[in-house]
Amino acid sequence: MSDSDDEITLSIESMNALKEFLKEREETVQKEQETKEIQEDWQLSQFWYAEETSEHVAKVLETEAGESSIVVCLSTPSIYKVLDKYKETSKINSFLFEYDKRFSCYGDRFCFYDYNQPLNVPKELVEKVDYICLDPPFLSEECLEKVTETIKLLRKGPETKLLLMTGRIQWPHIQRLLPDMKICKFEPKHPRLQNDFFACCNYDSKLLFE
Ligand SMILES: C[S@@+](CC[C@H](N)C(=O)[O-])C[C@H]1O[C@@H](n2cnc3c(N)ncnc32)[C@H](O)[C@@H]1O
Repeated sequence: MSDSDDEITLSIESMNALKEFLKEREETVQKEQETKEIQEDWQLSQFWYAEETSEHVAKVLETEAGESSIVVCLSTPSIYKVLDKYKETSKINSFLFEYDKRFSCYGDRFCFYDYNQPLNVPKELVEKVDYICLDPPFLSEECLEKVTETIKLLRKGPETKLLLMTGRIQWPHIQRLLPDMKICKFEPKHPRLQNDFFACCNYDSKLLFE
């Protein structure tokens, strides 16, 4: 059998349709990067928060993280988007840890992060982070275990504040892995998701318990 037997041959029409599709996709990605309006990709488990949720959490970080503190939004791009919007007046120093490279539109504030390689984080941030706000991609024990390894590497110590938003189904694993967490009164909302989501944190937050 020759190599050419394996080749797929497309008709002119199919080739043109494919070219058109690729061009449109490239234009969409370019527009998203310019406007920072990134569409959800469900294959990456992306379900963006309702606007009021993102605004509220960004306010929590701005007011409760402490002046000049280092804040990491881990797999929470909607929260980072609000922080970025107010960056001129912000008192915190925030970073986005994300797997989706479309978020590289945030320049040197974007840190590529894959929970499968939990120790692969910028070394400048190791043991330097004051506040971590996270929403891991999968509702599994394994995912939370790996993300917990990242938290332990990044945090300054037990005083580092944590805000975890995830499915309530994860609570038994959270209690085992992060025993200081308490369930918040505040609940994150998603416009297109019916799952039972909740928030928990490891400190006496005014804004998360009011
Ligand atoms: C459940 S969503 C949380 C997003 C949040 N609701 C928001 O609006 O910002 C999970 C996030 O994890 C990211 N993600 C997907 N695969 C990942 C991986 N392997 N490692 C780390 N993060 C990943 C997705 O891109 C998405 O931003």
